[in-house]
Amino acid sequence: MKSIVLIGYMGSGKTTVGRQLALALGRTFYDLDWYIEMRYHRSVAQIFAERGEDGFRELERNMLHEAAEFEDIVLSCGGGTPCFFDNMEYIRSVSESIYLKATPEVLAQHLQMGKVERPLIKGKSPEELLEYIRTTLAQREHFYMQAKHIVDVTLLDNYDKLQTSVQIIRKELNL
Ligand code: S3P
Repeated sequence: MKSIVLIGYMGSGKTTVGRQLALALGRTFYDLDWYIEMRYHRSVAQIFAERGEDGFRELERNMLHEAAEFEDIVLSCGGGTPCFFDNMEYIRSVSESIYLKATPEVLAQHLQMGKVERPLIKGKSPEELLEYIRTTLAQREHFYMQAKHIVDVTLLDNYDKLQTSVQIIRKELNL
């Protein structure tokens, strides 16, 4: 079976939903950031610091090409993955792609907690973060919208909603 690839902005819940979806479908779960970290023995933050964003994007593309072709997996991408090179076209060609869509306000809320480890948003005040999300989401959304399936996860903030999202995705994919 083709891989199922989750895309969307940082903080949209790709990892949380992906892990749960994989469990429900009896598939293996992969997170592209973790896969990169495992293959290069470096954290994403270290890779950004050592190679810059361009260097990270090269590795990310290469690792995407490795991981997305594994059979029977659910793969969560990084927020920027579909927005560089021809990655989105590639994702569409090898997988069932799903965009987890959420508003900038909800994304900002989710990201307040995890922004320390994310190099692109580290050190931003809540106001700066929201502004950054609004601007970059507007630039990225046309890539995300090319996913074969779009699931709005704006209301996803507790266990029941997580299960609901998984059910919606399964229905979308007839699985
Ligand atoms: C990024 C998102 C991150 C990670 C890197 C860059 C982005 O992944 O790949 O920090 O450009 O949006 P998550 O979306 O899993 O946080």
